[in-house]
Amino acid sequence: MASSMAAACTAAKASLSPAQSTNQRTPAQGRLLFPGAAPSSRSLRLRPADRRSPATRSLPRAAKAVVAALADPLKVMISGAPASGKGTQCELIKAKFGLVHISAGDLLRAEIAAGSENGKQAKEFMEKGQLVPDEIVVNMVKERLLQPDAQENGWLLDGYPRSYSQAMALETLAIRPDICILLDVPDELLVERVVGRRLDPVTGKIYHLKYSPPENEEIASRLTQRFDDTEEKVKLRLETYYQNIESLLSTYEDVLVKVKGDATVEDVFSKIDELLSSSLDKKTEIVASA
Ligand code: AP5
Repeated sequence: MASSMAAACTAAKASLSPAQSTNQRTPAQGRLLFPGAAPSSRSLRLRPADRRSPATRSLPRAAKAVVAALADPLKVMISGAPASGKGTQCELIKAKFGLVHISAGDLLRAEIAAGSENGKQAKEFMEKGQLVPDEIVVNMVKERLLQPDAQENGWLLDGYPRSYSQAMALETLAIRPDICILLDVPDELLVERVVGRRLDPVTGKIYHLKYSPPENEEIASRLTQRFDDTEEKVKLRLETYYQNIESLLSTYEDVLVKVKGDATVEDVFSKIDELLSSSLDKKTEIVASA
């Protein structure tokens, strides 16, 4: 699969003049630019109506396929219980596929850190391991999703939606993922992962005292722990997770893939990498046969 994408990319590149090919962005950046095209967010975001633009009409079939696939970048959801490894895998996915990582939990923690009214209210629910009300979360995530970087490069939605009403809010806007990954980890591992988790406030990197320890003393000394990362709170968070997960799974049944999350970080990523590469290939093939 990955090889067919690579072959199509090569064909596309070969069809461009040297001047054109120097303007080519990497697939991770999610779009191709052509001479004369304004380097704005709209430069080559081909929608159905403009897929036959002069720039692409002159390209051979394989090149058109690549251009169109990149113009319709990958959209991924990742879901799973607390500490199932969503954030850890998102770091790796972002690095390889260049998607914009949108984490509902991170957006909420940023509101708390900023001391906003939404942040103050959100913290009360997070302390209890409950879902923050839709009035706060839905618009916050929607606005982030609709920003140009996410629209151009594709997105990786982490921990959202978490309820039927949140899923329906996206459906109403016709926002759907190409693939929804569910990380499946036995409950008994989750508590250990939560209590051992540490965060580097400088780099944002996620560590675990046992499974991913900090590289040196300097990093170790500055690590912080999340306020909801206690054994007591993770049990409440798990209850909330199980109360809501079914409605979510049924909404995305057609694009849902379960991935075993109790392997090493590298092995889990290798499976996800395979799935996302195949998803990207499928998008290319669909456009090529259109
Ligand atoms: P959020 O921040 O999203 O927390 P969560 O869903 O509970 O998930 P975590 O961030 O705890 O875990 P993770 O799956 O990202 O695991 P990680 O990669 O860090 O949400 C927090 C709160 O915000 C919610 O409780 C709720 O109140 C609110 N909220 C969020 N979204 C909301 C929404 N949509 N609506 C309403 N409210 C919302 O890994 C965990 C640890 O395990 C790390 O130490 C890591 O190093 C380690 N680890 C990871 N993978 C492996 C592996 N394969 N092997 C060994 N160790 C591993």
